[in-house]
Amino acid sequence: MKILAIIGSPKGKGNSYKVTKEVEEKMNGMEDVTFEYLFLKDVDLQMCRGCFSCVIKGENFCPIKDDRAEIEDKMLKSDGIIFVTPCYCQNVSALMKNFIDRLSYVFHRPRFFNQKAMVLATTGGAGLKETLDYLSKLEVWGFGPVITLGAIYPPWPASEGLKIKNNKKIVGSVEEFYKKLKGQKHPSPGFNQYMHFRFMKMTSDMKEYLPADNEFYKDKNEFFYPVKINPFKKGLASLMIKIAMFMMRDMGPEEVK
Ligand SMILES: Cc1cc2nc3c(=O)[nH]c(=O)nc-3n(C[C@H](O)[C@H](O)[C@H](O)COP(=O)(O)O)c2cc1C
Repeated sequence: MKILAIIGSPKGKGNSYKVTKEVEEKMNGMEDVTFEYLFLKDVDLQMCRGCFSCVIKGENFCPIKDDRAEIEDKMLKSDGIIFVTPCYCQNVSALMKNFIDRLSYVFHRPRFFNQKAMVLATTGGAGLKETLDYLSKLEVWGFGPVITLGAIYPPWPASEGLKIKNNKKIVGSVEEFYKKLKGQKHPSPGFNQYMHFRFMKMTSDMKEYLPADNEFYKDKNEFFYPVKINPFKKGLASLMIKIAMFMMRDMGPEEVK
C-alpha cells in the first residue's frame, strides 16, 4: 500500500511531520505500507497567478510550468494521501493553501476516486477545528469523507495528559484511515459529494463559460463513476438545487434564467 504525505510546514520536519511519522509507524504495524514524503517547501510549486485558466480552459492551460502536474501524478499513483499542515492563524499554512489553489481545477473536475485521504493538522492550542474543517472540504476532490487528525503542541513542554490525548487521537485516526483504505473502492457517495456532482454537472452546461467542465461532464450522468444513487438522495438533491437556484437567481449569466 502506497501512502503519500504532503507536508505543508515551512519548517519541514516539525511537529506535523513528527505526527505523520507516528502515523507511518502505527500503519506499518498493521501492514507493509510504503510512505513517501513530499515537502511543499522543497518542490517547485509557484504561487497561483489567478488567471483561472485551469478551471475555465483546463489545467494544461496553466501558464506556470513547474512541478504541479508531477505532484498530481504522484497523488494518482498512491492509495492514500495525507495532507499535513501546521495551523497558522486559524487555518492552513500558506504553502498548503497555495498547493490547494494550484489544484483548484480538481474542485471542478474531481479525479481522486481510487485514493482515500487523511487530513492532519497540529497547533499550539487554537484553530485546530477551523483548519481541519477547511481541509475536510478536499473530500470533493474524489476521496469521499476524509479522516481527520489534529494534535496539540503548545509552545512549552507537553504534559503527560496531553501526550496521552495526542496519542489516543493518532491511534483512533490511523485505525479509521486503515479501515477506509481497506473498504469499498467506489462507495455510494455521501450527500455532500453527490450535491457537489449535481452542481458541477449543472453549471458545466454553460459551455461557452466553462468549456473544460462541459467536456468533462458530458458523459457523466449519475455520478463521477458508475454507482447506484439512492432515489431519496436524488430527490432531496433536486429539491435543494431548486431552492439554491432560486436564492442565487441573480448570479447566472443574463441569458440563463
Ligand atoms: C505564523 C504562525 C502562525 C500560527 N498560528 C497559530 C494559531 O492560529 N493557533 C495556534 O494554536 N498555533 C499557531 N501557531 C503554532 C503552530 O500551529 C504549531 O507550533 C504547529 O505545531 C507547528 O507545526 P510545524 O512544526 O509542523 O510547523 C502558529 C505558528 C506560526 C509560525
